This record gives sequence, structure tokens and C-alpha cells, in this order.
Amino acid sequence: MQDAISESKLGRIMKISFQRPGLARAAVAVAFAAEGAKLGDLAGKIDAACKGQIAKAAKAANFQGKKEQVLDVVAPGGGFDRVILLGLGKPEVLTAREVELLGGAIAGSLQAVKARDAVVAALPAIKDVAAHEAAALLASGAALRVYRFDRYKSKKQDGNGLASLAFQVADPDKAKRAFQTCDAIREGNHLARNLVNEPANVLFPAAFADRAKALGKAGVAVEVLTPAQMKRLGMGALLGVAQGSAFPARLVVMRWNGGRKGEKPVAFVGKGVTFDTGGVSIKPAQGMEDMKGDMAGAACVTGLMLALARRKAKCNVVGAIGLVENAIDGNAQRPGDIVKSMSGQTIAVLNTDAEGRLVLADVLWYIQDRFKPQFMIDLATLTGAIMVALGKENAGLFSNNDKLAERLYAAGQATGEKVWRMPLAPEYDKMIDHDVADMKNIGGRYGGSITAAQFLQRFVNNVPWAHLDVAGTAMDSNKSPLSQGWASGWGVRLLNKLVADHYES
Ligand code: BES
Ligand code: MN
Ligand code: ZN
Repeated sequence: MQDAISESKLGRIMKISFQRPGLARAAVAVAFAAEGAKLGDLAGKIDAACKGQIAKAAKAANFQGKKEQVLDVVAPGGGFDRVILLGLGKPEVLTAREVELLGGAIAGSLQAVKARDAVVAALPAIKDVAAHEAAALLASGAALRVYRFDRYKSKKQDGNGLASLAFQVADPDKAKRAFQTCDAIREGNHLARNLVNEPANVLFPAAFADRAKALGKAGVAVEVLTPAQMKRLGMGALLGVAQGSAFPARLVVMRWNGGRKGEKPVAFVGKGVTFDTGGVSIKPAQGMEDMKGDMAGAACVTGLMLALARRKAKCNVVGAIGLVENAIDGNAQRPGDIVKSMSGQTIAVLNTDAEGRLVLADVLWYIQDRFKPQFMIDLATLTGAIMVALGKENAGLFSNNDKLAERLYAAGQATGEKVWRMPLAPEYDKMIDHDVADMKNIGGRYGGSITAAQFLQRFVNNVPWAHLDVAGTAMDSNKSPLSQGWASGWGVRLLNKLVADHYES
């Protein structure tokens, strides 16, 4: 039960296979029609096998094959319990992203009708996506979608889950190989979701570190620093947050060395507050349970490392996560306390609920100092204000480097894990000056996400850096065809794409 990565295996939930096109004898078939109700290959064959019932039903229901049109034909004959006909509009212009979303929607439709095993037709030719890739992307979307987190249900819902999906494609072996990469990314995404969904009594800092250590089996080198080690390094900002908790802090450094020996790594840093009570500046009770997800940045970094290892990415990557609980006891830090960070800069902690930046200050400093990365990106559920600014469809992006920002934007558009750039400027930076300490950890009423980012930037030297505020995207997330739950695993697919593009160009 404690093995983090075996729980993220797809086989635990659903079996995926690829087969040559043909009249499959499946109880449930998903087939396609282009605009004008032109039946695709499998749809046509099924229609013939059940004596024109599909075409008849399409006509009766005024199904025209328009994009996102669905026709559910029950008991059409020919040995089928059900044929779900999906409209594709003009299939030749579909993008890779749309195909993946379609795969998610297909799995959702099958789950809704309680299908167990189904066959999915081959897609018609698409201009920008090869046939084997299209099949792999459909499977990827479905695999991302069928995630469930049921380890705390004493009675597992058995017998009504989608158990197997077979995708038809001209070259099944090629599709299977393409899907291996998709499944690596999916596994990282699902690991991140698992971590975010775990309650804080189970996933405290040392427990999270243990789950990260399990990535050793996938070939990731994992180091865990204890509070004593962090103290020696001078990490007073991080340790100040942790001091009110019964659970001691951890700093986990994960390394995937799939690239050239000696090549500088790229680095990812995650906020891992396993629970955020707010500390003495305590949060209101309403909704506080959501703060088990305040480690979603760290979960993303961990999931990314697993994805990279699983797909044997040819790159050197460091993933670091600062794990603390922001709790309250007699030893908790007080508003007004002054702590000294590893960088030597001092911080007046005016609000103990602005703790994420204190954790990241020391981890960012440590990582750039030790690894001299090519670039460094942090992810953090840092501010409620980012949801006021951007809602929940885009994460906030802050960067000192236009090129890196542009690449993140492009990766966001390609994966659907979208980012929107926010400003950094000296005028905002001034807002966190303090009269006694070098800085304070809050900046006043306005621009809360920006002053938080300015705070982080004070711990970044010349390295290209980006900060992603994922408070609105990685927890309590919007539903999408690929993710229906509270935890989305946001960022794994985005950063995997960024890394892939970085090493391909
Ligand atoms: N973890 C929270 C931010 C958050 C809020 C994440 C809601 C997800 C949902 C963070 O530690 C926090 O408390 N931020 C404060 C900062 C403030 C005290 C300057 C906030 O956003 O209110
Ligand atoms: Mn907080
Ligand atoms: Zn927090």
C-alpha cells in the first residue's frame, strides 16, 4: 500500500491494447463519422453487419457527424450491445491535442454507460498527426481520464469500471511504441494526482520523502536531507515554517541523469507544504481541508521525475522539493519573527500564512548554488490571489527570461496546461522592503501574487528562472476531458513537453 509508484501503474485500472482494423466482436464499439454523417471504416462495417441500423439511427436522430456530436445506438444487432458513434467534424484538421482530448471524452462516455470492454475505431487520416500517433494519443487521453483514487474506500467499486480498451490502427506495433511514451507521462501525472489527493495525516514530510525515494526503482537518484542537515546549511526560512509541526521537515533532491555526462542540468523546485493551517496567522476553518493540497508543486516535480525516468529522457534533470507542515504549537513561529535564509538575507515573517515563499527561498538558493542549472523553474500553490487574477484555467507565470517564458507558454498551449505571464518590476519589489529586516514576507493588499513572486526573485541570481503559481490549477481543479478529480496532476505534461522541446532544439 505504501509503494508510491506501483499505485500509479495503468494496469491496475485498465488494460490498453492496439489491433488492426476489422469488424471487432466487442460488446461495445466506439466508431467515428465525419461531417455529413460519412461513416468511418469501422462504423461502415458495423452498419453492414447490423443491416443498416447505424445509418438508420443516425438519420432518425439527425446525427450529422458534426464535431462533438454523439449518437449512442443501443442493441443495434450484429452482436453489439452498443455502438457509440462520434462526430469528428473535419477530421483532417484535428490537432494532436484535440485527438488526446477526444480519447479522454471517449473513456468518459464509456464510463457513463458502464461499459467494461470496448473497441475504438481507427481515426480517419489527419493532416498533422500520423495514424499510429493518433491511436496512441487517443489511448493517452483515455488513460489519463480513467484515474481514480479509491485506496480509502473499504469497498472498491468493482464490476463497473472500464476494464479494457482496444484501439484499432493500421500498425499496432508502432502505435504501441508511441503509447509507451504517453504512458510514461501519464504515470507521472497519476503519481502527482495520488500525492495531492493523499490526506495530510498520511502524507507528512517524511512520508512524502519515502514516496520520492521509491523513484529509485525507476532509476532516479534520490537524496533526503533532514532538519539537522538543513540547519547546517543555514536554511532558517524553511525551518522556521516547520518549527510548529510535530512532523520534521525534509528536503528531497531527485536526479535523473539521462543526458550527456557533465552537461548542466535543468532544475525544477516544488513547494511541498503537506498541510497549511496558516500557522499562528491561522486560516479560517471553512475549506481549510483543501490545504492538504498545498504540496501540489512538489507532487508535480515528483511526477515529472518519474515520467522522465520512465521514458528514459535524454537529459539531466534535478527535481527538488521542500517538505514542511505549516502547523501551530507552542514552538510555532510568530508574526514579526525574523529569520535568516541560506542566502544570508533576513526576513520578517509578518504573516505566517505566507509560508510557501519562505520554503522556496531556501530551496531555490540551494539548488542554483549546488547545481548551476541551465534554467530553474519552481511550482507552488503560492497565493489565493492568482485565482482572483486568472481564474482556474491558467497558472500564473513569472519569469526573468523572455525566452523561457515563451517556451513555457508554447508548451502550455500544446498540452492544455496553460500559463499566463504576469509582471515583475522594481516597483513591486519595493513593496516587500522592511525597516528592520532585509524584507518582509507579505507585500500588502494589492498584487499579492506579484509581490510573492518578487520575494522569490530575491533568492534567484543570474540563472534563467520561472515561477508558476499553480494554486488555481493543481488542486481543486476544473474538470476536463483528461481529469475529473480534485487533483489534476497539473504541470507534469507541461514540463515534460518543455524538457522534450528544450533537448530537441
Ligand atoms: N497555500 C496558500 C495559497 C493557496 C490559497 C493555495 C488557496 C490554494 C488555495 C498560501 O500559503 C497562502 O496562504 N497564501 C496567502 C498569502 C497571504 C498571507 C499574503 C494567501 O494567498 O492568502
Ligand atoms: Mn499559507
Ligand atoms: Zn501555503
